Amino acid sequence: MRRFLVIASIVWAASLIALSGQQRIHPSLIRNHQAIAYATAPVSNPASRLNERLASGDVTLTSNGTSGYLQSLLAALDVPVASQVLVFSKTSFQAPRINASNPRAIFYNDTVSVGWVRGGPVLEIVAQDANEGSIFYTLSQEATGAGLRLERNDTCIACHLADATQNVPGMLVGSVFPGPDGTTLYGPAYTTDHRSPFEIRWGGWFVTGTHHAARHMGNAIATNQSDLDSMITPSTVHVTSLQGRFDMDGYLSPHSDIVALLTLEHQVQMLNLITRTGWEARVGADAGRPLDQAAAELVDYMLFIDEAPLPGPISGTAPFASTFSARGPRDRHGRSLRELDLGRRLLRYPCSYLIYSEPFEALPARARDAVYLRLWEVLSGRETGQRYAVLSPADRTAIIEILRDTKKDLPTYWFAGS
Ligand code: HEC
Repeated sequence: MRRFLVIASIVWAASLIALSGQQRIHPSLIRNHQAIAYATAPVSNPASRLNERLASGDVTLTSNGTSGYLQSLLAALDVPVASQVLVFSKTSFQAPRINASNPRAIFYNDTVSVGWVRGGPVLEIVAQDANEGSIFYTLSQEATGAGLRLERNDTCIACHLADATQNVPGMLVGSVFPGPDGTTLYGPAYTTDHRSPFEIRWGGWFVTGTHHAARHMGNAIATNQSDLDSMITPSTVHVTSLQGRFDMDGYLSPHSDIVALLTLEHQVQMLNLITRTGWEARVGADAGRPLDQAAAELVDYMLFIDEAPLPGPISGTAPFASTFSARGPRDRHGRSLRELDLGRRLLRYPCSYLIYSEPFEALPARARDAVYLRLWEVLSGRETGQRYAVLSPADRTAIIEILRDTKKDLPTYWFAGS
């Protein structure tokens, strides 16, 4: 795991240095700054709200068979079963129990994700807080009774606060060469998101779906240490069913849907960038530190400027895509940022739906102003940099129109000439 975190990096050190000539707090320590106070500030997120509902008796969780509280927890957090993705590398908290015969299942919606390891004593929960980034919890599979709560656990940031999470408490997706028992073998390891080429994605994950990629690293187990790439064959690249690969007792779904994986990869780093921009605004508030670097990076990611093109049409095996798109919101013409493209790119209108998420809406005004300004510069064409040419005039117009109809807090200059 250590190796994984060291090698896997999305470096923002460069942008930090550029950000200001002033002495800066090391990014991974910002959480202790008084403006953030990660460990002690009040929290507000889907998990903390569930705890309130458990305390008031509005909700009770019930344990069911092999998966324990999993199904009940997903329902209480409004997390769809169809979002399930399966990872079999020993790269996470309950690593000793995880292998290709007992993969870890991850489920998610926009702002909360849940990890289940069959036989493990706890469910793992990451909730995106309005202000505090990712907050980590466990739910005991053994506890019962009225006192049942999600318990906050800050030790998770041992892995969940690193270059791979933009140095804020956050989420990540990694790709490794897993050995026969799921242990990461010595070799390249990657943090992946929508910018990553398919060739390096999903090592240690199951991937079900149809697609035209010649190569990805999913579904494969490396047995030849001196030729790791030999694990990748047409039969590992193209998998539509996991039946017969492992005993599915307790699993809520037999899929590790390729579209659910693509969407998860987009969203983990989007949420981390939102956290980071908000934190930079709060920590730098007194000094009036400029936010244009952070806003530019966030907007580039939000508009998928560096998205790796999809290698032809993709479809998943679970009903993830349809449940995802149905969530809206929609503009007056029925268009939504959640519509998927899946031909040459992930989204039909390349602007992240996480613009509607609670952490985005809760950004400090200074940060939100900087992001909206940058977004407008790019979408309106005032930003003429060559790298923005990937956004067609039709895409720009559609995104602007959808946002005008669906985002209440847009600055007035967004409406000039409309
Ligand atoms: C040993 C490092 C490590 C520790 C400790 C760790 N995690 Fe993770 N976690 C990961 C990695 C790596 C992933 C990406 C998926 C994978 O490889 O399993 C991940 C993914 C997750 C996910 C899915 C969302 C995402 O970020 O992709 C959840 C939920 C999660 N972890 C919860 C927790 C909780 C809760 C704790 C603490 C109780 C915790 N983790 C501790 C390494 C860790």
